[in-house]
Formats: sequence, C-alpha cells, structure tokens
Amino acid sequence: MPLYCCLNLLKYRVFGRKRLAFLQDEVFTKRYISGEHAFAVAPMMDWTDRYCRYFHRCLSSEALLYSEMLTTGAVIHGDRDHLLGFDSAEGKVVLQLGGSDAAAMAQAAKIGEEFGYAQINMNVGCPSDRVQSGRFGACLMAEPEIVADCVAAMLAAVRIPVTVKCRIGIDRDDSFEPFATFVEKIKVTGCDTFIVHARKAWLDGLSPKENRDVPPLKYEYVQRIKRELPDIRFILNGGLETHEQAISLLSGSLDPQSSSVKLDGAMLGRAAYKNPWLLQQVDELYYGRPAAERSRADVVNEMLPYIESKVDEGVSLGRITRHMLGLFLGQPGGRIWRRHLSENAWRKNAGISVVTDALDKVTIAATKVAA
Ligand SMILES: Cc1cc2nc3c(=O)[nH]c(=O)nc-3n(C[C@H](O)[C@H](O)[C@H](O)COP(=O)(O)O)c2cc1C
Repeated sequence: MPLYCCLNLLKYRVFGRKRLAFLQDEVFTKRYISGEHAFAVAPMMDWTDRYCRYFHRCLSSEALLYSEMLTTGAVIHGDRDHLLGFDSAEGKVVLQLGGSDAAAMAQAAKIGEEFGYAQINMNVGCPSDRVQSGRFGACLMAEPEIVADCVAAMLAAVRIPVTVKCRIGIDRDDSFEPFATFVEKIKVTGCDTFIVHARKAWLDGLSPKENRDVPPLKYEYVQRIKRELPDIRFILNGGLETHEQAISLLSGSLDPQSSSVKLDGAMLGRAAYKNPWLLQQVDELYYGRPAAERSRADVVNEMLPYIESKVDEGVSLGRITRHMLGLFLGQPGGRIWRRHLSENAWRKNAGISVVTDALDKVTIAATKVAA
C-alpha cells in the first residue's frame, strides 16, 4: 500500500473524533475525488420528492440530487407538472426512470430533459414485485440487451448525460462475471457512468426493504470493475453511513488490495435522509469548496420563506417538514424538534409557526444543556 494511504489509514484508525481532519486534507480529497458525481443523495421513492430536495439543497449546493423513480407510463401519460415539476433552486437534479421499452424510455427522457433535469438515470436496481411484473428494475440485470437498447435510445434522444443505477447482480449466483458482462454490454452504448448498489438483489422472496439490508455488501466488486474499466465512472452506493467510510472506500485506502483503485463518487441514501446534517460537509469534502458557516437553525430559517410559500399554495406543512425531522439528530433538543413537528405539522391550517415554535424549543433545550 502506498505510504500516503498507510498514513491516512493510521490517522483514520487512531484519531477518533478528529478523523474528519484527514478528510479535510485538501491534497487527500483532491487526489481521489472530482467531478459532479463525487457525492449524491440516492433516489428514494416517497422520500426524495421536491420538498426533500429543496431542503437538501439548502445544505449542499454541489451534491447531485435525484428524483424518486418515475415509470415511463407515468411520465408520458400522467400529470407532468405534478410529477416532474421542480423548483429551479433545487439546482442539478437527476430524473430517474423505470421502464424497459426503449421507445418509451427515449420519449420519457426527452420530456425530462425539456423539464430541465440535468441527467437521466435508468433504474436497474429496484427489486419490488410491482416493478418485476412491469419487467423493469433489478430483474433487468438478467437482460442487459434490453437495458442497452433503452440506454442507446435515450442517448440518441437527449443531449444530457444518461446513467444506469444497478446492483452487482441478482439471485444466488455470487460470481463477479455476470456483473462485469452486464456493465460491458451497456458500456458499448456510450454510457460511461454506473451507480452501483454494491449488493445483489434476491428476487426470490425478500421484500424491497430486506433487499436493502440482507444480501451482503461487496464493495470489492465495484473496486474490481473499476480496475478493469478505468475509463468508466463508478459511483459507490449501499450501506455508506459516514463521510470517513465513504471517502476511505472511494480511495481504496481501507483495502490494501484495492489501493490503486479510485472510485468516482459516493451515493448515500438512508444515512443522508435520516441525518441530513451530513450534507453540510459535502461541498467541502467532495468538491473542495469552502464550507458555508451556518448552523442548523440557519438552515431552518432559510427554509421558512419556501415553506410559507408552499403552505400558501395549499401544500400540507407536514409534507415538507417530514424531511427535516432528522436535522437535529444527536443534538440537544433533537427529540423535542422531531416530536413537535410530528405532532403538529399535519394539523389542519398548520403554518410556519409550528416550525418556529419547534426551533424555539430546540434553542431552549440547547441553552439548558450549555448552562
Ligand atoms: C425508502 C426508499 C426508497 C427507495 N427508492 C428507490 C428508487 O426509487 N430508485 C432507486 O434506484 N433506488 C431506490 N432506493 C434504494 C436507494 O436508492 C439505495 O440504493 C439504497 O437505499 C442503498 O443505499 P443506502 O444504504 O445508502 O440507503 C430506495 C431506498 C429507500 C430506503
């Protein structure tokens, strides 16, 4: 293992709470990660809606944000403004599509491009029964030709990038080769970016939730495919909980075997949603931008005009604040914040005073702890 990796690994292991210092080492970060894919919040159905993305954008101006998955049928035949519309303040947003018909995927991708999405992503990772019966999502890992047709059709239809989010395989065959064959077959279309949830999907009996936890994580498969195809971008996803862990895995520095492999980005799902303050460090750690000096309370205050305007439009307060429940996770008053919003934001006529009251309670709790 190169000396700088040994040193960083040592720092990582030894310094405990000071571990972030090594991540903030400019040389370390710049050497390993660059580009707009460096950090993303995963697409999550029912979670990463427009309100969630607006909130996440207040915490990071650089992170790539994803829509929930939309099927081609919904995009083509549904209420487009309702499904696809988003606030320009959300910045770069990737539209994730689910489908397996190349012409429909191309049409939906074109519609997404016209709506202003920055990229189109094809979902080849979702294991739900509904998705399987529609013959898309993770079951398409067994049919790379269909995925390749869809990707080629989308690339021909739009000028924005088209990427694929996949697993490392499906069902019980644990070998690396089917994953490599899948990537090879898609790569010939010109698609150069794969986001890989580094566990298989077991389509025979696990629920979608279990399929996010039970099949073992094999980060080494993603490192290996990157070693074999260094010109393709691979974004690592699955089970990443902290920036220390993510950046260490991207740099290969936790695994002596893979120290020569540099992955191209990290995608965090549940950890970022449940502890959104993680996003506050993203611009600095992954993009080398100066960290914005702001507190959690500043972020709440920044959200207030947006919340007020949405509530005035008739959006229920709870639909927005549900994404903010974790903002004070682990902080004095964090539980009071969560409880106050959960109990009051869904009430009829609830407005921003619910949020400002919750913030007052947090401030009082923090003052008591400090006293
Ligand atoms: C509530 C929920 C909904 C999800 N919906 C989608 C989805 O629409 N499209 C998709 O590709 N993955 C979806 N996923 C999977 C995530 O994008 C991600 O791959 C998975 O959670 C693993 O990452 P994590 O361990 O960082 O959460 C969903 C995950 C969760 C928890």
